Amino acid sequence: MGKKFHFECQQCGHIIDNFDEWFENNQQCPSCGGKHIKTVYHTPKEKLADLVKTEQIESMWHYFDYLPLNKCENIVSDGEGASPMRRWKFLENYARDKYGLILKVYVNRNDYSPATGTFKDKGGSLAASVLKEHGIKEYVVASTGNTANAFAQYLAKAGISASVFVPQDSLRENFVHIGALGQKVYVVKGDYAYAKQLAAEYAKKHNILISIGNLDPLRLEAKKTTAFEMVRQLGKMPDVYIQAISGGTSPLALKKAVDDFAGTDILGQLPRMIFIQGDKCDPQVQAWKKAKAAGFPEGWENDYPVIENPVTLVPTLATGNPVLYPLLAKMVKETGGEYFSVKEEMAVDMARLVAYEVAVKIGPASAVGLLGFFEALKNKALRDGETVFINIGEGVRRAVTFVEEVSYTTKQITSIEDTERFDRKRYRKFVWKPFENY
Ligand SMILES: Cc1ncc(COP(=O)(O)O)c(C=O)c1O
Ligand SMILES: [Zn+2]
Repeated sequence: MGKKFHFECQQCGHIIDNFDEWFENNQQCPSCGGKHIKTVYHTPKEKLADLVKTEQIESMWHYFDYLPLNKCENIVSDGEGASPMRRWKFLENYARDKYGLILKVYVNRNDYSPATGTFKDKGGSLAASVLKEHGIKEYVVASTGNTANAFAQYLAKAGISASVFVPQDSLRENFVHIGALGQKVYVVKGDYAYAKQLAAEYAKKHNILISIGNLDPLRLEAKKTTAFEMVRQLGKMPDVYIQAISGGTSPLALKKAVDDFAGTDILGQLPRMIFIQGDKCDPQVQAWKKAKAAGFPEGWENDYPVIENPVTLVPTLATGNPVLYPLLAKMVKETGGEYFSVKEEMAVDMARLVAYEVAVKIGPASAVGLLGFFEALKNKALRDGETVFINIGEGVRRAVTFVEEVSYTTKQITSIEDTERFDRKRYRKFVWKPFENY
């Protein structure tokens, strides 16, 4: 059998043959120590053009030929990555009625993902499969919660021990699921940056493989299939991509997909990237605003603040030290995109509106991304005729407290006199109110 793929160091161009070599070298380029490698496939490009034309798929493993696994028998899967992309007319109508813009607005229903209900399932599936293929029995990961859950679950399915480090402000109702699976959770007294530090120390101490974060090929290669899916389901890449950003895996993965598209007839350009952060932890937005106001002076992309121990309502997104900002901000600039901050306090309002209009319960991080759509409209960052894609990353499966906050109709009763006829239309005004003067 011919070789399926190899890696190319993005810093010095050195070729790394396979995962064995990569893992043996501590997931660094043996030549320059770089951590950013690109996975290059030997499968002919026409195959990809065919794959994005298939009517129905069962999981991201439909794209097996463009994923870094050698043998199908090592696939650890749970139907991840086959999330439908839905057109949300109520957002289109809002844009039309308030701003006179005709848009097509799609969202990615990652809440349907069978394993843990977030877009992190893809990375979990690929990581578990590759580790299985290489006979690895132990793994370390630091995460704010959703990656932690996805990795813990898929690794458990593969019989691999996961030691997970989460910052202390992670949502308790999120990380308890990891313990329930019999995977190890360390709740770190400190922020996400400190959780990452302790995870790295632990991995070093015991010589265990660790998930190296947002540039890890195991995450990037899995998440790039979102772009494959955009093309398969929408027929082309959208004009605009909106997402709540934390570390930045998803946008970097999108860029990787565009690299994979090169040399095919797939309509696969990078969309205009619009990244959203919650106002209580928005170092990237602050950096971007400053650079923009100064006219992007030389080296602007390396100038960003670090927020230590961020206190936020959406801890899932709380990357206070955005080390990949230089790469992400350049993507925003090159695509003519924007960074926006939204009020975290409005996450509940956003979730109510979505649930009212389309009967979908979204999680807090997804609410941040969707608020970004309203912010983008207000700031004239969307144009007439465009197709807008909003990557909503999660549902509410583990966000019980958030759902309680979102819920607004409960009434305690003692007798039938306390009840009245119910007409849900009456709530329409209530759920739209926060957005009337957005
Ligand atoms: C639901 C959700 N949305 C958005 C993000 C941000 O993802 P990233 O910045 O890594 O693409 C995360 C992960 O932290 C998440 O769990
Ligand atoms: Zn190198």
